[in-house]
Amino acid sequence: MENTENTPKKVMLSGIQPSGDLHLGNYLGAIRNWAGRADQFDCFYFMADMHTITVRQNPADLRRRTLEQLAQYIACGLDPEKNTLFVQSHVHQHAELGWVLNCYTMFGELSRMTQFKDKADRHKENVNGGLFTYPCLMAADILLYQPDFVPVGEDQKQHVELTRNIVQRFNGIYGDVFKMPEPFIPKAGARVMGLSAPESKMSKSVPEGCVFLMEQPEDIRRKFKRAVTDSDTEHCVRYDPEKKPGVSNLMTIYSAVTGKSYEEIESEFDGQGYGAFKPAVGDAVIETLRPIREETQRLLKDKAYLEDVYRTGAQRASAVAEKTLRKVYKKVGFLQR
Ligand code: TRP
Repeated sequence: MENTENTPKKVMLSGIQPSGDLHLGNYLGAIRNWAGRADQFDCFYFMADMHTITVRQNPADLRRRTLEQLAQYIACGLDPEKNTLFVQSHVHQHAELGWVLNCYTMFGELSRMTQFKDKADRHKENVNGGLFTYPCLMAADILLYQPDFVPVGEDQKQHVELTRNIVQRFNGIYGDVFKMPEPFIPKAGARVMGLSAPESKMSKSVPEGCVFLMEQPEDIRRKFKRAVTDSDTEHCVRYDPEKKPGVSNLMTIYSAVTGKSYEEIESEFDGQGYGAFKPAVGDAVIETLRPIREETQRLLKDKAYLEDVYRTGAQRASAVAEKTLRKVYKKVGFLQR
């Protein structure tokens, strides 16, 4: 539909932490769904580098991954002319609004966040204040841009719900300052599980079950050959996430990269067992990732272009964010500069 001056586009925003190399789960579950939305929505996508330091990072790796993630966003189809792509730490308003929202979020609310409880458990030696108040920074990331939709994975839904509570509290005191955001959880097919342990989400922390976007074809092929299938006796390719989580996950991946339905996949591999199916999924994934890997490598050689993209992105983002921040500062009673 044509967009005219007086019907502003709806706004969409999301981010990924550059705390690990991007993988197939990030691509199929998130980035792929972001691409192609720019005609309908005003889109903001960022590298959430400020969030990553809630867990100790190697500085050189963080820098490399942040730039690589930008190149990957572009290689996955996010056109920087049509989408605002930026690095979170380049837009100072995130930290500033984050502080304010800290003061409108309750200790009890933050204590209930399951991601905090998980991470505090996994990093017992470094349960820092930032890890605890991280959802306030995430709320700031979102609210600065007044988005209508926030595409996130199931695991981030609780943080978007908390953001909605903050909006209600803040607007209840000061009037309509923030737009109420909606979480936007992609449909089935987007939740990619680990290849070596299909009960949990594909994650960089289990590298043998994780396919990275920059991985070489032979490594991808090997990971799919070793993918865990199910110990049931029938040994056939059939979609049943309860009884056959391993095979069903491979079917989800195959369906996502080929566009085939589960029925089509079942009949394609009818009578063939897992031995034929696993390498076929691997090959389909290799062909999907090949152009993304090659384009990322090409972009990473063009540092001047990438710098231009993130500078322009930060300028555009900052202009929008500043409007919201000014309003908030005024409402809470800060003296105007
Ligand atoms: N917390 C998200 C994650 O760990 C990343 C993130 C940070 C985010 N700020 C955001 C996602 C704002 C959506 C909107 O995956």
